[in-house]
Amino acid sequence: MDFQPILDLLEKNGQGHVLDHIRRLSPEKREVFCRNLSALNLPLAFRLYQNFSRQKGSGTHLPNIEPASIIPTSRTPEEIQRRQEAIRLGESLIRGNQIAVLIVAGGQGTRLGFAGPKGFFPISPVKKKPLFQLFAESIQALSARYRARIPLLVMTSRENREETEAFFRSRGFFGLGKDQIHFFSQGMLPTLTPGGKLILGDETSLLANPEGHGGSLKALHESGLAGRLKGQGISEIFYCQVDNPLVKIADPAFIGYHRQEGADISTKVVRRQNLEEKVGIYGMVNGKPAIIEYSDFSPEDYRSLDENGSIRYWAGNIAIHVISLSFVDRLNREGFALPYHRAVKEIEGLGPGGRSEKMAGLKFESFLFDSIPLAQKSCCMEVVREEEFAPVKNQTGIDSPETARGAMTNLFRRWLEGAGVQVAPGVQVEVSPLFALDQEELADKLKGKKVVVGEDSYFG
Ligand code: UD1
Repeated sequence: MDFQPILDLLEKNGQGHVLDHIRRLSPEKREVFCRNLSALNLPLAFRLYQNFSRQKGSGTHLPNIEPASIIPTSRTPEEIQRRQEAIRLGESLIRGNQIAVLIVAGGQGTRLGFAGPKGFFPISPVKKKPLFQLFAESIQALSARYRARIPLLVMTSRENREETEAFFRSRGFFGLGKDQIHFFSQGMLPTLTPGGKLILGDETSLLANPEGHGGSLKALHESGLAGRLKGQGISEIFYCQVDNPLVKIADPAFIGYHRQEGADISTKVVRRQNLEEKVGIYGMVNGKPAIIEYSDFSPEDYRSLDENGSIRYWAGNIAIHVISLSFVDRLNREGFALPYHRAVKEIEGLGPGGRSEKMAGLKFESFLFDSIPLAQKSCCMEVVREEEFAPVKNQTGIDSPETARGAMTNLFRRWLEGAGVQVAPGVQVEVSPLFALDQEELADKLKGKKVVVGEDSYFG
């Protein structure tokens, strides 16, 4: 392989320190280093760096955001009837083997401070089941309920792919068929210093970061998975992040609304609980639905109130979508490109002395939701936070394992009490997806039984 073009590219982009490093390596290691280099999209990273450097000021200019049309949580008889119709439609698509589930699990999870992929995190309140197990069990339960084949797609980064696959294998794929699960990897981009220099990760490779979950749309296509799913008759992908144990996997109502609206991509939102909560905001931008990430707002705009004193930008993205496979197909055929966002985060790389050290790193990422404005039609529904959203992002405080477990136990307690079960105050309760997927199923299972919960309990 001729590595000269890459070496020239490094020279031209002021990366002399990498060239010096390469010169110091043995011929064998030099070969390995250059091979690793050629697997990274260096021209893109340099171009992004230059583009961002040319932008004046601290960040992007916030466009005008107008309220979007959002399906409300059903209250009126008409809304309730429409929801019933959506559920029936969604269920028929699941029964017809047209739905796959995609979990994006390629992030680095630095904020959680957990050694290992986030999906391994032991989250459930009583059994401490890992996040991946909860999702897999939901799919198993749905498959049984609807007598359906529901493929599970797991997008990892190149870094955590092997570990993730081994985890599923060692746990017997959590009861799913081996052929039902498809792993695929997203792309990586080199991490840079704030001054635009490449960083050594170790002796034979550069430091790189996963390119953001926007990469899933390309990775689905390039891995051949989208084509295979289409061949199996799949028409829609239910998409969620690995960090939310309350996600209603393949929610029939959501899938049904998506279809009723003839949408390419659909989104679930919750009302922001306060001005501090950091979520993307769903709204109309330049006449099209879009999500603007919290970090792209100025603090004043993000905290602004409307004329009634309510949070102006209330529709918080919970990163749950339905995506039509035909949309993925069209985007890739048209050679689409999502914008990249820039973030400065603390990273660990090799410093000038060759020793590992903490430093500021510049990462470029694309976001899946930036595909929403590319859709011909999209749909959005509001859901109840307590039933569907309790993300695990931080070690402590808000959006931590403690708050997520609290939300799970509160939800299960409400289901149990709704089924006539007395639950003593302060106890932890957990309902396995394999026992009941929702309140109605639980009530059905417990009908005619006298159950009193006096200590931490698991229904499984
Ligand atoms: C994300 C959303 C935000 C939303 C919030 C809800 C983005 C950019 N922002 O914020 O609008 O309100 O969730 O919880 O998504 N991931 C990958 N590959 C990557 C990067 C991330 O698979 O390259 C996955 C992670 O595993 C994680 C998820 O995407 O599950 C979230 O990514 P993160 O960057 O942490 O976004 P948040 O700040 O949590």
